[in-house]
Amino acid sequence: MFKTIRDFNVKEKRVLVRCDFNVSFSKQRNVLDDFRLKQTLPTIEYLIKNKAKIILISHLGRPKNREMKYSLKPVARRLEELLGRNIKFLDDCIGKKVEKEIGKMKVGEIILLENLRFYQEEKENDKNFAKKLAELGDIFIQEAFAVCHRNHASVVGIPEYLNSGIGFLLENELKTLSQIIKKPKRPLLIIIGGSKIKDKASAAGKLFKIADFLLLGNLVAQEVKKTKLKNSPKIIFPVDNKENCDIGERTIELFREKIGIARTIFWIGPLGKIEEKKYQKGTKEIAKKIIKSRAYSIVGGGDTIAFLNQYNVRDKFDFISTGGGAMLDYISNGKLAGLEILRSAK
Ligand code: 3PG
Repeated sequence: MFKTIRDFNVKEKRVLVRCDFNVSFSKQRNVLDDFRLKQTLPTIEYLIKNKAKIILISHLGRPKNREMKYSLKPVARRLEELLGRNIKFLDDCIGKKVEKEIGKMKVGEIILLENLRFYQEEKENDKNFAKKLAELGDIFIQEAFAVCHRNHASVVGIPEYLNSGIGFLLENELKTLSQIIKKPKRPLLIIIGGSKIKDKASAAGKLFKIADFLLLGNLVAQEVKKTKLKNSPKIIFPVDNKENCDIGERTIELFREKIGIARTIFWIGPLGKIEEKKYQKGTKEIAKKIIKSRAYSIVGGGDTIAFLNQYNVRDKFDFISTGGGAMLDYISNGKLAGLEILRSAK
């Protein structure tokens, strides 16, 4: 259905790989959680082994312009450690300098380009920008599952101009998630917390059709209450909260009860302001209950998986998705803009 990385002869070719290196950093600008980086390694290592020239592209955060706190440079350093190889970091993603450096590349070399979102054209899916990116490669490999729901130049624009396919990370995400969602064991429970509340409230509007129960964190709940979903018996809203920054004891109990009867659980987004220890209780209690439950559990979203890693419980879940909003959209109807374009890719 999709061309995969195995379908291309990548030898001596410039392979443009769209990754999702949207990760968080410590105050010292070190990568806090490298899960998304590690998941991309099989594709990069395959390309090294098969003598490609590897050009990695990604976004980071939501910068308004060239804000250096959103530079991908620290990601290059962490990737070097993980791969045990040099990575050349370039401080732009298009332009003469980038073209020149790519022109000099030898097989097996890796370049990481600067944050695509330093150009507003990325989010606007500007055709010219997509074309300039596409000209940097001979083959395009999509690995950024977590951003496949966005109509951005590096997601839906590049495949218009380049021979395109999917990498191992994306292949694995699609295989696992589509299998689970085809015939989920019921009750099927979906827990949605965290920020990006507009996106998540809109996803809830589709997900309540496939879920038996939808459990919402405070912020998403406030958004969903503005819609007609507020009366849906499938949606479980928080009944109390702690200073509006965490779910309260009664809500924890209510959520634990539902988790106890579920057979499949999708969980995206923390249930409190977990950057502050005093608001971590709800998220921790929900994690513990899911781990103990008999349900098949799938967790996604950068903040949630980083938090679970911090407490060393990430591998207690059955599947960890690199996607947050993308996973929600994918399980709601099996379609993502970035995948549809690849189905029809040249
Ligand atoms: C994510 O972290 O969910 C992805 O990188 C997408 O980021 P976005 O919501 O800023 O598009």
